[in-house]
Amino acid sequence: MNEKATFDRGRSQAATHPKFLSVWDIQAYYGESYIVQGVSFDIHEGEILALLGRNGAGKTSTLRTIARLDNPALRHGEIWLDHQPLHKMKAHEAAANGIALVPEDRRIIPGLTVEENLKLAQIAPPVGWSLERIYDLFPRLGERRRQEGVTLSGGEQQMLAIARALARDIKVLLLDEPYEGLAPVIVQEIAKTLNVIRDQGITTVIVEQNAVAALKLADRAVILDTGSVVYDGLAQEVLEDEALRQQYLAI
Ligand SMILES: Nc1ncnc2c1ncn2[C@@H]1O[C@H](COP(=O)(O)OP(=O)(O)O)[C@@H](O)[C@H]1O
Ligand SMILES: [Mg+2]
Repeated sequence: MNEKATFDRGRSQAATHPKFLSVWDIQAYYGESYIVQGVSFDIHEGEILALLGRNGAGKTSTLRTIARLDNPALRHGEIWLDHQPLHKMKAHEAAANGIALVPEDRRIIPGLTVEENLKLAQIAPPVGWSLERIYDLFPRLGERRRQEGVTLSGGEQQMLAIARALARDIKVLLLDEPYEGLAPVIVQEIAKTLNVIRDQGITTVIVEQNAVAALKLADRAVILDTGSVVYDGLAQEVLEDEALRQQYLAI
């Protein structure tokens, strides 16, 4: 482990339970650009982790590396999910092992209704939540099931993007800026839903520019700066530590 990974004050009680997702010293590159510079953190099952840091800190690149997308390319380190070596897998294998990345642009498929977007996600086995269970969690999607997905509001599209991940059998939800461009009341609604999803046993990593909203939701926080971990601890501690927030989050 590098020195930065020893920031360990305030681990949650879950630290006594076995690690679920373990990211160890991952180093990843876009071509020759060294971007993810030895990131390590652990998440316990059912936790919500806020992955924070300024623009360009490497948050999206870290999520993409965990999801095993080709770029940035992982050249060093290990990623373990529920005893499976994700670092040895391609993106489709990581997905089959329970990783779901909801990218910033949400990627709702044009020309398909809400329900068709969900059914398409269910094509890939193993199938996760039923449509009934999804509509139970997202009543707005149920009401709009026959509406074209791309005509939904921003908040509803984000709900559809999350719902589509749940339509597969996932263990870990990686969310890249889910609150971007959404009104505070919609942010609250999505946060409530993410709490329900946590209660159903799914582990979540949330990347957000809206750090306060993410910290209120999360159990723990990891802060990145220039591709390295500069803080790993309780979300509540970051909320209370103004100096830390100013230094790394500019809030
Ligand atoms: N496709 C890419 N090719 C080269 N450099 C990239 C690419 N995507 C991001 N970067 C660079 O990697 C760094 C981290 O970016 P990113 O992970 O998107 O940060 P964040 O999500 O924290 O804003 C930035 O310096 C960015 O310019
Ligand atoms: Mg980003």
